[in-house]
Amino acid sequence: MAIRGDAAPVVARPRDTEPEMGGSASKQDPARARQRPLPEPKPLTQHGPAQVIAMCNQKGGVGKTTSTINLGAALVEQGRKVLLVDLDPQGALSVGLGVPAQNLDRTIYNALMERRTTLADVRVPTDIPGLDLVPSNIDLSAAEVQLVSEVAREQTLLRVLADVRDEYDYILIDCQPSLGLLTVNALTAASGVIIPLECEFFSLRGVALLVDTIEKVKERLNPDLEISGILATMYDTRTVHCREVFSRVVEAFGDTVFQTVIHRTVRFPETTVAGQPITTWAPTSSGAAAFRDLAKEVIAL
Ligand SMILES: Nc1ncnc2c1ncn2[C@@H]1O[C@H](COP(=O)(O)OP(=O)(O)OP(=O)(O)O)[C@@H](O)[C@H]1O
Ligand SMILES: [Mg+2]
Repeated sequence: MAIRGDAAPVVARPRDTEPEMGGSASKQDPARARQRPLPEPKPLTQHGPAQVIAMCNQKGGVGKTTSTINLGAALVEQGRKVLLVDLDPQGALSVGLGVPAQNLDRTIYNALMERRTTLADVRVPTDIPGLDLVPSNIDLSAAEVQLVSEVAREQTLLRVLADVRDEYDYILIDCQPSLGLLTVNALTAASGVIIPLECEFFSLRGVALLVDTIEKVKERLNPDLEISGILATMYDTRTVHCREVFSRVVEAFGDTVFQTVIHRTVRFPETTVAGQPITTWAPTSSGAAAFRDLAKEVIAL
């Protein structure tokens, strides 16, 4: 796959910072130009076994956690049963769902490191029926080191997920911003990877390394692994730079880029404070609509 992240930089012209007037922005919007009608998902008559998807990008602050919460909630609206796994010691996924994980005695760390603790022992329901969470807190930071001396260290998460896999349709894993052993565990347990990508030039550079890592894990540990899609986040139609970066991502990755893009809006930081997904916090917002579209795309894969 051709990665053009290292090609000449997309130079931001000064007028980038100026919002464009009237309808011209939408006419030139490469994301809008790719929009096609999405198929309505079929209702399910039974649940499981889950498709496991890792939400992964070693770059920080690109929207991994936001996408995990809101895609999960949108899949639940489609009648899917979803488990969200917080695999980041920062515990942002747990906080974003209103779970005070820093006070919990048992988290994903215990399920990974203790043979007598199962994932079912540590998962908690959220306020949204059909959406469960495996919380994490700072304890998990020790796992990265402790796992190194374990037998089959890369398969630890795969093994512990086996217990609950039949109960869910989707298991989404929120990875931390690194390509360390925890992330390799997520990639080994998953059959798909969603790469949230902020539409700015430096984001492109990191994707080449991430794709390389995904290919290595596929070769050595998990032949089933595929990139489910690249998700453009914090998309701002008004800036030329953002639109050019998006066009370049589509040039490099083609149909692997989801047609749904997540626009930059203050609604998302608000949801973190509220401890709720956008689908319940601002159900009629364009952000909620975008994640509903993304859920349709993911179900159609
Ligand atoms: N579409 C968006 N518009 C505006 N702000 C956003 C959007 N998506 C995410 N944010 C905000 O950007 C910040 C980073 O988002 P998020 O935590 O989802 O990224 P992350 O990739 O999980 O970060 P980390 O690498 O630290 O885990 C958060 O404050 C979040 O509220
Ligand atoms: Mg995060």
